[in-house]
Amino acid sequence: MSQLQDNFGRKFHYLRMSVTDVCNFKCSYCLPDGYRPDGKPSFLTLTEIENLVAAFGEVGTQKIRITGGEPTLRKDFTDIVRIVADNPNIHTVATTTNGYRLAKNAKEWYDAGLRRINVSVDSLDPRMFYQITGENKFDEVMRGIDAALEAGFERVKVNAVLLKDLNDKDLPRFLHWIKHTPIDLRFIELMETGLGHDYFKAHHLAGADIKARLMAEGWLYDQPGKDDGPAQNFSRPDHKGRIGLIMPYAKNFCASCNRLRVSAKGKLHLCLFTENGLDLRDLLQHPEQRAELIERLHGQLTQKEQTHYLHQGITGVTQHLASIGG
Ligand code: GTP
Ligand code: 5AD
Ligand code: SF4
Repeated sequence: MSQLQDNFGRKFHYLRMSVTDVCNFKCSYCLPDGYRPDGKPSFLTLTEIENLVAAFGEVGTQKIRITGGEPTLRKDFTDIVRIVADNPNIHTVATTTNGYRLAKNAKEWYDAGLRRINVSVDSLDPRMFYQITGENKFDEVMRGIDAALEAGFERVKVNAVLLKDLNDKDLPRFLHWIKHTPIDLRFIELMETGLGHDYFKAHHLAGADIKARLMAEGWLYDQPGKDDGPAQNFSRPDHKGRIGLIMPYAKNFCASCNRLRVSAKGKLHLCLFTENGLDLRDLLQHPEQRAELIERLHGQLTQKEQTHYLHQGITGVTQHLASIGG
């Protein structure tokens, strides 16, 4: 096995594989105007996905997160899960979803091999949820989370992007919720994207402020485990749930980067922000192309930059995160 590694000694065991750009929500920080097709979409086919997963499995990938847009909008989502789960090198199959189809399908996806699920819930107040996501689907999403907890997933995480003058007032409600609910709650600091300069100015809430509020509430910082990735974790003995904080503007955030991304159209992205993506699709057509594909991956890894340039106000090429799966 030839492990993927970059010039800074970082190893990549984790692939975020986007399977569609399409989303049915209109989150104000992400896709305020909803999804606009870029020509006729032609997303990775099941065969291409199988070849991609096989190649990444041979260069050390052990965890694959299926992302979007909204990945579960694909009619063949369960087949995608099965393909990833059937690969002997992939130990963890995860997805990130807006939760819209979860109540109905949690069990089916679990049976196909999905083991971890991250659900975006930006507010526990249905009106604020609607204001942020543009969809009146709070109850469905919460039912979905219950279904996921019942289906037996190893981990159910809930992502909330905390926004100044919008859902920042919800923090106590979130903390109360996880007192008795075994959820891993992630607070994500808003990232500036190409389409989001004004929004960022109006609503960015510094991760350090969130961290200070958690510490003041008695949450204790947990030392990161090996391969934990960039989130900082907090727990409290009297709470069933835990908290992760994603602070992309923090010093050294990228030092523990452990992930690569492939877009729904088959481009390799070494970072969320720095480059336009390198096409892999021509080498995803037949299993016999695997050696050449692996060689291309290794070659590309030498180009990975040490960090993004967000802290310098440079958002790079990424217009919004739905285009690359976050
Ligand atoms: P785990 O696999 O559970 O560790 O979750 P994750 O954080 O990798 O996945 P998730 O899809 O839930 O992403 C949560 C948020 O973190 C999203 O807003 C992502 O865009 C952001 N995020 C994930 N990876 C990175 C990264 O490498 N860099 C930056 N800047 N943000 C990231
Ligand atoms: N900043 C931070 N998080 C974002 N997400 C989408 N756009 C942004 C942004 N600009 C998050 C969503 C979801 C995850 C996949 O990406 O909230 O939880
Ligand atoms: Fe859709 Fe996720 Fe973007 Fe919301 S954050 S619009 S759910 S892709």
